Amino acid sequence: MRMRPLKVALLGCGVVGSEVARIMTTHADDLAARIGAPVELVGIAVRRPGRVRPRVPAELITTDAMALVKSGDIDVVVEVIGGIEPVRTLITTAFEHGASVVSANKALLAADGAMLHAAAAQHNVDLYYEAAVAGAIPLIRPLRESLAGDKVNRVLGIVNGTTNFILDRMDSTGAGYSEALDEATALGYAEADPTADVEGFDAAAKAAILAGIAFHTRVTIGDVHREGLTEVTAADIASARQMGCTVKLLAICERSADGQSVTARVHPAMIPLSHPLASVREAYNAVFVEADAAGQLMFYGPGAGGTATASAVLGDLVAACRNKLANTTGAGESAYTQLPVSPMGEVVTRYHISLDVEDKPGVLAQVATVFSEHAVSIDTVRQQGKDSHNGAAGASVEGGGGRRAGDAALVVVTHRAPDAALSATVEALRKLDTVRGVASIMRVEGE
Ligand code: HSE
Repeated sequence: MRMRPLKVALLGCGVVGSEVARIMTTHADDLAARIGAPVELVGIAVRRPGRVRPRVPAELITTDAMALVKSGDIDVVVEVIGGIEPVRTLITTAFEHGASVVSANKALLAADGAMLHAAAAQHNVDLYYEAAVAGAIPLIRPLRESLAGDKVNRVLGIVNGTTNFILDRMDSTGAGYSEALDEATALGYAEADPTADVEGFDAAAKAAILAGIAFHTRVTIGDVHREGLTEVTAADIASARQMGCTVKLLAICERSADGQSVTARVHPAMIPLSHPLASVREAYNAVFVEADAAGQLMFYGPGAGGTATASAVLGDLVAACRNKLANTTGAGESAYTQLPVSPMGEVVTRYHISLDVEDKPGVLAQVATVFSEHAVSIDTVRQQGKDSHNGAAGASVEGGGGRRAGDAALVVVTHRAPDAALSATVEALRKLDTVRGVASIMRVEGE
């Protein structure tokens, strides 16, 4: 074994960083044996040096992250700070000083991945980020390496644990969104400000990263259509149940049917209870991949948490250290297909639409005509009497207030249609005098 240790700088020492530091110490011998040289943690940059950090060597703590990455003899910088700046500058500076970088920073990778990959290639170093998507689940490396000889057509994932916990609670207890969010907060799953999770920003960043890697192209977070789960009601969940489905916040990356473009989106969707993703409970993550030769694959596990995420960081650290030792680098960015990202209007899928309508002759025919005029084919229609909308009594309709006496709930499920056609259909439905309101629209996936 080589005696000179590989030097590692750690940027950030929160939930994940402190676990990385701990495991680097406790597993030092195994890591050295697997890499072929010892790894030495030479500095830990933090914002709050006074914070108590049990099991983290106090003498390594510094507040000067820039000085640490510029020190010149760092082999690998591990970045677990998060956010765009100053991290982007720290990472590019690390590359300029010859260090490979292991990052868990989904926001930065989803915003500026191409620039970072180019900078890493220019300086002949590695950029690894397994921990940026779905925590401990090995996903980036299988997509980049194990499936490098295959053609991935679709990635369908539950990539945010907080929202999966909320939807799981709504499904299993009948709770409303706010009640389930309160429980997620009390149990420490949801942040004090849950916006990034519940509005789908976190999942959209992960979708951008997955789509780029899966389809060998470039996708940024701005290309990802995003809808959060704040509008999902107990009535939606009950309606999904009636269809033999459950509701999940899905990240969906697809190659178009003609193979000439891709789409990436995050939104709540109904999936059949028979789909493997339907059984992903609590705060777990899972990603379902469809490839030409491999067929259907599913990756499942904890998508967050300090120790679990540290596992992915350390896997990357070992890979980067091995490459340093061999004086080589791993595969860099693969974006040769240059496939454009199509807008949401071109996505083709199925829809579940709940309408509150007047219950009188001719209304169903009027509604069906609107679907027909927009070339959206209806699969099933279910009418429920008043006060039983979607199986949940007293569900509100658009514009507030309950359904009036003499109204009925009409639930329409369509065949596959372009999103733009469905939007135009809904707009026209809203204009019908006999349609009191559109209670909910949800896509149906995974069939
Ligand atoms: N907040 C994320 C989640 C974990 O709830 O899954 C980090 O991406």
